[in-house]
Amino acid sequence: MKKIWFFSMVLCLAAAPVSFAAVGGGDLTFKAKDAKPVFFSHIKHVEGKKYKCSACHYSVFQMAKDSYKMDMSKITKGQFCGTCHNGERSFAVSDKASCAICHK
Ligand code: HEC
Ligand code: HEC
Ligand code: HEC
Repeated sequence: MKKIWFFSMVLCLAAAPVSFAAVGGGDLTFKAKDAKPVFFSHIKHVEGKKYKCSACHYSVFQMAKDSYKMDMSKITKGQFCGTCHNGERSFAVSDKASCAICHK
């Protein structure tokens, strides 16, 4: 019993700094079929671009990783990242020059 209590204390202490350091959901990586992985940074969107959480949650994304099956055709049609990465609010996903901004 004592041992379990000790280990849960250690876990809490180890987890605390991480949850304080991360902005929103932190840095996320999405594996993509036949393309390099996609990186999404909460800090760059929330602090860099001054988006409120509600700009994406829950209108565009749930607050859980992999809650949707994203793919490039849906994104190009304006869903998910394509809500903003459409050449108006931000760089367009269909622009060949922008593939490597997300796929690294
Ligand atoms: C520009 C869009 C955007 C903004 C703004 C944003 N998020 Fe997210 N968030 C995402 C995406 C994309 C995901 C992943 C969704 C998925 O995979 O289905 C996510 C996931 C999360 C997750 C889950 C992470 C995980 O590992 O499961 C949390 C927690 C989260 N966001 C919190 C926040 C909070 C808090 C804010 C405001 C401070 C915020 N987000 C602002 C896009 C955004
Ligand atoms: C705004 C970020 C972003 C840009 C820009 C972008 N992609 Fe993607 N791409 C994604 C995301 C997110 C996924 C889905 C990953 C997953 O499966 O969860 C994806 C998936 C893919 C996939 C996997 C198969 C599929 O159809 O979903 C391919 C291939 C791909 N992208 C190619 C490209 C090419 C080529 C470009 C440039 C013309 C591009 N992407 C630009 C974010 C982006
Ligand atoms: C609510 C609007 C919005 C959504 C949704 C959104 N973005 Fe962005 N994102 C932006 C804006 C605005 C910028 C700033 C780009 C610029 O200055 O042209 C940006 C910048 C970026 C950058 C460049 C950051 C850097 O400076 O390195 C990447 C990569 C990126 N977004 C990926 C994604 C991916 C992947 C998704 C989907 C999972 C996504 N974004 C969803 C608005 C959004």
